[in-house]
Parts: sequence; C-alpha cells; structure tokens
Amino acid sequence: MIEIDGITKLYDGLPAVDDVTMTVDTGTITVIVGTSGSGKTTLLRMINRLEEPTSGSVRINGESTQAVSPHILRRRIGYAIQGHGLFPHYTVARNIGAVPALLKWPAQQIAERVDQLLTLFSMDPAQFRDRYPAELSGGQQQRVGVARALASRPDLLLMDEPFGALDPVIRARAQDDLRRIQRRLGSTIMLVTHDMEEAIRLGDRVAVMDAGRLVQYGAPAEIIARPVTDFVADMVGRVERPLRLLSLATLSELVEDGAAEGEALPVDASLRDALSACLWTGRDAVPVEQDGAVIGRVTFDAIRARARVHP
Ligand SMILES: Nc1ncnc2c1ncn2[C@@H]1O[C@H](COP(=O)(O)OP(=O)(O)OP(=O)(O)O)[C@@H](O)[C@H]1O
Ligand SMILES: [Mg+2]
Repeated sequence: MIEIDGITKLYDGLPAVDDVTMTVDTGTITVIVGTSGSGKTTLLRMINRLEEPTSGSVRINGESTQAVSPHILRRRIGYAIQGHGLFPHYTVARNIGAVPALLKWPAQQIAERVDQLLTLFSMDPAQFRDRYPAELSGGQQQRVGVARALASRPDLLLMDEPFGALDPVIRARAQDDLRRIQRRLGSTIMLVTHDMEEAIRLGDRVAVMDAGRLVQYGAPAEIIARPVTDFVADMVGRVERPLRLLSLATLSELVEDGAAEGEALPVDASLRDALSACLWTGRDAVPVEQDGAVIGRVTFDAIRARARVHP
C-alpha cells in the first residue's frame, strides 16, 4: 500500500503539487490524469525521490520513503518514462535484465525472467532477445521499456506517459497488454497520462489533477457518472468520438465468413479491441469465436469503414 500524505512541492514559491493526499492499494493500477503542467510528473517523481517534497510524506508498506536512501528506494521502484529510455548498446535481454543484474540475481534466473516478459508482451524471445533497440519498431521498443521496468518485480511501478509516443489506436492494445500482465504478476502501478480515455481504460482508480491539486479520485465509472467539477466533466467529454463509437459496438455486428490468422477474439468483444488487435499485430483480420469455436472473422477494412477511422 502506498500512502501519500499532504504532499506539496513548491518551485520558486509556487505550488507544482499542492497538498495531495491519496492511498493506493497493492496490486492495482492507479492512473493520474490531468492537463499539461498540472503536476503529474512532479507527484510521481516525489514517490521515488527524484524530487524531494517541500512538505508532506510518502509511505510504502508502512515505511517512510525518507527512511531509505534514494538509490536503494529506486531499485525497489520501477520507473518507465515516455520514449522508453533503453540503453542503445545493450541487447534487449541485457536491457530487460539490467536491474535484476544490479540486484545480483543468478544469470539463469535473469534469462528466464527476460524470456517470460518477452513472451508476455507477444515478442518471441528467440527472435528478439539478442537484438539492439535500433532493430526494433517503436511499439516494440516501448514494450521492452515496460518489460524492463517490471523485470525485478518491483514493489511499485511508476510510469510517466509510457504510451505517449504510440498511435492512439495501437495504444489501446498496449494498454490491454499492460493490464493483462499487471493482473498476472499482481504488480502495483501508478501511471501518469494526459489522456482521459487511457485513464478510464486502465485505471482501477483514477486521480484527476488540476493546477497541482487532486480534484477527484475514484473508480472510472464514478468519474464518468459524477464528475465533481466542470474541468473533470470536460476531460471526460473530450474522449475521442470515433473510438468511443467502436468501443460501444461488438464484433457480432461485422462478423463475416472466412478465415484469419492468430489469436481469436470473442464475438462480444468490442470493435475497438479488434481494431487494436489488427494494428498491434499487423493482421488484416482477426478470427471471431463464440463458445470456444471460431465462427468467422472481422476484417480491418470493415472496422475502419464502420468508424471511418484512418490511422
Ligand atoms: N524543476 C522545476 N523548476 C521549476 N518549475 C518546475 C520544475 N519542474 C516542474 N515545474 C513546474 O511545475 C508544474 C508542474 O510540472 P509537471 O512536470 O509536474 O507537470 P505535468 O502535469 O507532468 O505536465 P506534462 O503533462 O506537460 O508532462 C509546471 O508548471 C512546471 O512548469
Ligand atoms: Mg509530465
């Protein structure tokens, strides 16, 4: 459990973060959302002490972060930032294994962990573990960056706009992957974004910041149903319309006869999920299943026509 208690950061006398108090449960994803300059990054960086608070405190599992030296603290807290920050002269395996190596895990255990994470992120270990970052696509680099942050099983993973560089539609698939992996590993994640849609999709709880203050903190459904200020209502209202339409329609609308490669999606999955799956994996159609049997496919073209989305 993470307890943030009355934390404030002043720069030149002005609050970047203004008296924020919040509790984060172990094994959940908390998304901090707000416009540019609202203090999200500053809040996150005070948790692993990349910034020192002007006042207030942070406790992780009951222990004050001030009781631990910053470099020890940062080994226990994963940190992933936009633009992945991979070491260009390290292979994928060495990048992912960097923190476990620092923690002196046995080589065999590191290798197993690397392969496990690559597999979880749908990257074949045999194909990818010896490549260098420059030999990966942008989305693959991003996944390796997230895998690296997860590698040492940190108590807490802080992510600052980890998917910011991805196309919004591909991003939906990256979010689904992160959620699936987080559930599987039981990780505790605090993630910063300026994208309300990402917050709603990923967060068990969503924290909305405005001008350094925490203005609302609750489950996504609560934020949508009962925004407490006009600012929150406006952010919820801005979620991109074509994608919202696709989120509301299911594959049953567009399923047609024919075969397709790869993992099938259930007939009641959203068209948004199918579009993301196509883009993320480079397929031009996905198989559709019902009660465990494949009943047809949905094509990329049909989904695009339905949404008039032109990625
Ligand atoms: N080192 C610093 N010195 C002075 N002011 C700073 C410093 N770092 C941040 N600020 C100010 O604090 C405020 C909050 O910045 P912060 O980076 O936390 O915002 P943010 O919500 O992460 O924004 P963005 O979405 O653009 O990344 C901004 O007004 C910023 O100008
Ligand atoms: Mg920021």
